[in-house]
Formats: sequence, C-alpha cells, structure tokens
Amino acid sequence: MNTQRTYLWLGLWAGGLLLLLSVIALISPLQLQSTDAESQAYKNPDRVYRLQTAITDGRMVFVGDSADIDGVTNPPLSANKGEVVRIRLKNGDGGTHDVAVPAFGARAERILRTGNIVSVTFQIDREGNYPYFCTVSGHRTAGMEGWFNVGSAPEQRAVNAQSISRDPEDLPGPVKGRDAKTVRYDLTAVELKGKLGERSSYTYYTFNGKVPGPMLRVRVNDQVEVSLVNPDSNTMVHSIDFHAATGPGGGAAVMQVPPGEEKTFTFKALKPGLYVYHCASPMVSQHIANGMYGMILVEPEKGLSPVDHEFYIMQQELYTDEAMRRAEGHLEFSGKKLLNEQAEYVVLNGAVGALTQQYPLEVEVGETARIYFGVGGPNYTSSFHIIGEILDMVYPAGSFASPPLRDIQTTSVAPGGATVAELSFDVPGTYKIVDHALARMERGLIGYIRAIGSGNAEIFHEGSASPVM
Ligand code: CU
Ligand code: CU
Repeated sequence: MNTQRTYLWLGLWAGGLLLLLSVIALISPLQLQSTDAESQAYKNPDRVYRLQTAITDGRMVFVGDSADIDGVTNPPLSANKGEVVRIRLKNGDGGTHDVAVPAFGARAERILRTGNIVSVTFQIDREGNYPYFCTVSGHRTAGMEGWFNVGSAPEQRAVNAQSISRDPEDLPGPVKGRDAKTVRYDLTAVELKGKLGERSSYTYYTFNGKVPGPMLRVRVNDQVEVSLVNPDSNTMVHSIDFHAATGPGGGAAVMQVPPGEEKTFTFKALKPGLYVYHCASPMVSQHIANGMYGMILVEPEKGLSPVDHEFYIMQQELYTDEAMRRAEGHLEFSGKKLLNEQAEYVVLNGAVGALTQQYPLEVEVGETARIYFGVGGPNYTSSFHIIGEILDMVYPAGSFASPPLRDIQTTSVAPGGATVAELSFDVPGTYKIVDHALARMERGLIGYIRAIGSGNAEIFHEGSASPVM
C-alpha cells in the first residue's frame, strides 16, 4: 500500500511540474516580446536632450548642448505623453552633479569629473509642467533647475507685465555747490502690475512707476517742496516720509493722500547726507515691501568730488504667498510672512535680474564710481559688498559730516538707511554687488558691474608669481 501511494504522489508531482513548465513556456514568449518592445523604445527614444553642467556668472546651471536648445541656460524641455525621452548629461564644470525629473521617476547617476557623461531614459506618462533639477544638495537652489512640459505646445511662460526696475544710471547730476533755493518735486503714487521674476508678476506700489522711486538731489539749506498725487485709479491711501526732513512723520503727518487727491508740503534740508524716503501709510512695512521707497541726496555746501560714474541702487525684500522656487504667474502679498520677516525675495532695484539682465552696471578699467546704496527694507539689514573689489571710501550711514572710512570690504546698511561708496577698477571682469548674507543671492539679490579694459598682471593674474626681472 505504501509503495502504491508513493507512486501516486510522485505521479501527481510530475504531472503538476509538467503543467507548470508548459504554462511558463506559453507565457514567456509574450513576456519576452513586451520586454523587447520596451527596451527597443528605450534604445531608440523619441527625443534626446543633451545638457551640460556649467557655472556661469556665479550660478550653477544646465546648458543646452543639442540643436534646438544649444547654449540655452536651463532650457525648457518638452515631449508628448507616451513618448520615451533620454536626457544625456555631460559634466562641464568638474563638480558632482546629476539630473532628475521626479515626475517621471527619472534620476541619472551622479557624474563626478569634467567630461563624464550619464544618460537617463524614461517614459512620459502624464501631462503637465514639471521641474527637472540636480539633486546634489544646494545645487537646485544655486540655479540647476529647468522645466519639462508635456502636452499642448509649451504655454507662453513669459510674464505679461512691465518692468518696474529703475535704471541705476537714472539719477540727477551734481548740484555743484550752487546757492540754496527752493526745489519742487512732483511725485505720483502708482500701483501697478510689474515683473518680479522670470515667470512671475506682482502688484507693486511705487513712486512714479519705478522701484526705487526717483532719486532726488538738492543741496543743504534748500527748501524742498514735494507734492504727491494719488490717482483715482489707486486702491490705497499713500504718503511720504523723508528721513531728510525734520518735522512730524518726516512729512507723513501732513501727507496722507487718499485716492483722487493731491497734497503738498515743504521742508528745509538742514543736514547733508544720503537719506531714504518712503510711503508711511498703514501698514507701512507693506507699502515699503511693495516698492514704495527711494532716496534724496542732500549735498554738502561744496558738493561732492567728481567721479566718472554715479549709480543709484536700493535693496528690498518681498513677501509673497508663493514660495519663490515655485513662483509662476501673479504672486500675492503675504502679511503673515511679512510679520514673520520671512522674505521670499530679496532684490536690488525692485525685481530679480534688474541689475544683471536688465541694467548691469558698466565701467572702464581705471574709472571711478560712486554708488548711492540704500535699503528700503522693510526688515533686513544689508551687508553691502562687492565681490572682487575693495571700497576705497565709504561714507558711513550716508553721512558727509563724518569722516569717510577707507578701504572697506563690507559695510552694514540698515533698513531705512544708506551708504555712499566710492571705488575704482584696476582689473577687467564682472564684479558682483551682493548682500554678504549670501543666501539672499539665491533669493534674487545680485547685481553686476562689468569693468571693461585691459588686464593688469601685477595686480591680478592666474598662475604663479612671475620671476623677478
Ligand atoms: Cu549639481
Ligand atoms: Cu503707499
């Protein structure tokens, strides 16, 4: 009996095994087929994008390295749903990098050395607009991020908003030691939609439509007559407070102007110096954060020494509901972030790129420049610094009555404060205007000074010191 049973079991086992084998045999060609088709598609992707890593103007970026995106920084990439896409990344700068498009589960291996190449191939399984970026810590924030668009023609992402940034060369010329007199300024409060970032706009409050407001320039003992128009089309009460004025609210006590009205006041410029003015209507910090500030220069009796260039630059923070990194379209003011002093943007002359893309400063080697630098704020102190330069002279806190400081690397400028800095350029190149609280650079705070001319090897050169002749 036992033997019979054993044979029966063996027979069942063998039968089962045969059945299993035949099922596998039937299925496997199908499986192989589908794997084949997939790997075929992965071998011959519908689109190949070549990118290179680079460091340009102090930012880490991807640069397009194939026909339609050649030379484009963080080029927009696109594909249709269902397509297979390959991104081929070449290391162009020698840092460790990779590229990932998390929306499609794509992430390339890291490349460590110049010339290393890596590819990642992935299928597009959904429509929409998704970021691609380098996942190495800090690199995305430093600039290694672009957008991948799937579906209908990549929508026009450029913002439909005008620039509100003031040209740093837009300032009046020297007063040149004339007699004191009455000077009148007509200011208009302008609320407008302006361009903030590459893909974003914001509702700014401005003096005369630009940020900062116009630089005013008088001499000590002038009578300064200021009128402020608040057009009917505006929604807010606006006003003005001059730090150069002595009297209630710096003028704001008598200059609260409702929409549709105009007011005027006059003050005597008693003390020379560089002074901030700003709107002082509630909530004051909001009006300043929205762009309502500028500066007035009160020249001393004998004026200032001549220089080759004068520039007008101001720093501010912006508090938007939307995180800067994701910001697209029209951004909304966040009262909560303002009160918490958590700015999304920190910028020069009102917007990201104002002094890099739009109005980079230009000088020639050997020339002198004077920078009138102020901080609208409303909250952050600036550690004003120019990368690669030493400030020959700094009038601390914008005071001409105090002796200037010499040979300064970084100077602290308070919100509602200013400085006057003078420097000259010995070596050609691009110098960067920053707040040395450098994380702010990632929030938009940077300007360029391009010094043009021939080099000076004694002062600066690459490589070892030349042998003494
Ligand atoms: Cu990287
Ligand atoms: Cu205002």
